[in-house]
Amino acid sequence: MKPLQGKLALITGSGRGIGKAIALKLASQGCDIVVNYFRRREAAEQTAEALRELGVKVDLIKANVGDSSKIAEMFDTITESHGYLDIFISNAASGVGRPIMEIDEKAWDWTMGINAKALLLCAQRAAGLMEGRNGKIVSISSLGSKFVWPTYAAVGVSKAALEAVTRYLAIEFCPKGIAVNAVSASAVDTEALKFYIREGLVKDVKQTTPVGRMVTPEDVANVVAFLCSEEAYMIRGQTIIVDGGTCVAPWSSVVEKGEA
Ligand SMILES: NC(=O)c1ccc[n+]([C@@H]2O[C@H](COP(=O)([O-])OP(=O)(O)OC[C@H]3O[C@@H](n4cnc5c(N)ncnc54)[C@H](OP(=O)(O)O)[C@@H]3O)[C@@H](O)[C@H]2O)c1
Repeated sequence: MKPLQGKLALITGSGRGIGKAIALKLASQGCDIVVNYFRRREAAEQTAEALRELGVKVDLIKANVGDSSKIAEMFDTITESHGYLDIFISNAASGVGRPIMEIDEKAWDWTMGINAKALLLCAQRAAGLMEGRNGKIVSISSLGSKFVWPTYAAVGVSKAALEAVTRYLAIEFCPKGIAVNAVSASAVDTEALKFYIREGLVKDVKQTTPVGRMVTPEDVANVVAFLCSEEAYMIRGQTIIVDGGTCVAPWSSVVEKGEA
């Protein structure tokens, strides 16, 4: 029997990118999947097909996680169709890439709503479905929560908030038997990079990562899957960094790289 056989996971923004890799990893361990998407239905349907080929059950739910009424509808649907949930991954993200003097209220609220508030609202509903099931919640963060990049202010602040919400959830959900943690990554080559970060970043990242290559969506998914396992039971409220050593060696462009 596979380790997550009979479990159900909701992964926001899992039609593509890192969310898709997480969905595939959990499904490879036998987990049934609820794919949430917002705009890209075709990508989500392709992901659902790939998941079904792994032999698991798949639901597809369109919902903008920046809208509390859509979050409520998404959880109402899961409540009606399943009545339980074992794993919730807060992966969906969006944001406005602007210098700080150009961030207006709308841009701030949009970014904070999708990236930070959604974790709170989804976790509140997920907890109700996880009663007595040893639930797991993992949020996906980025190094912008601690480090500064050009035009990344709104997203970086939203990720700092996400990590703080993760810590509070972790402690308040201990009595509910729900383990809550975050996984943070350095740059991963998905479509998100096109929006936020300057050209040439991929080359720069390879040069400054001690391991000698960029983090992949699968690297992130592997750590998420570990946090969803019982082996990670005593890890609570942590942000696990997946960055090939970048954070601990910011001078690494001048040191020897790995062979990867
Ligand atoms: N790529 C990186 O360098 C990197 C590094 C560290 C952390 N991360 C984090 O990893 C996570 C995934 O990033 P990614 O690189 O895979 O991003 P991506 O390729 O841009 O994909 C974003 C995903 O989020 C979904 N999404 C966006 N707005 C949404 C909304 N309002 N409601 C529901 N879903 C929404 C998208 O769904 P649709 O396509 O259906 O609209 C898509 O599935 C994010 O939390 C991101 O901050 C990324």
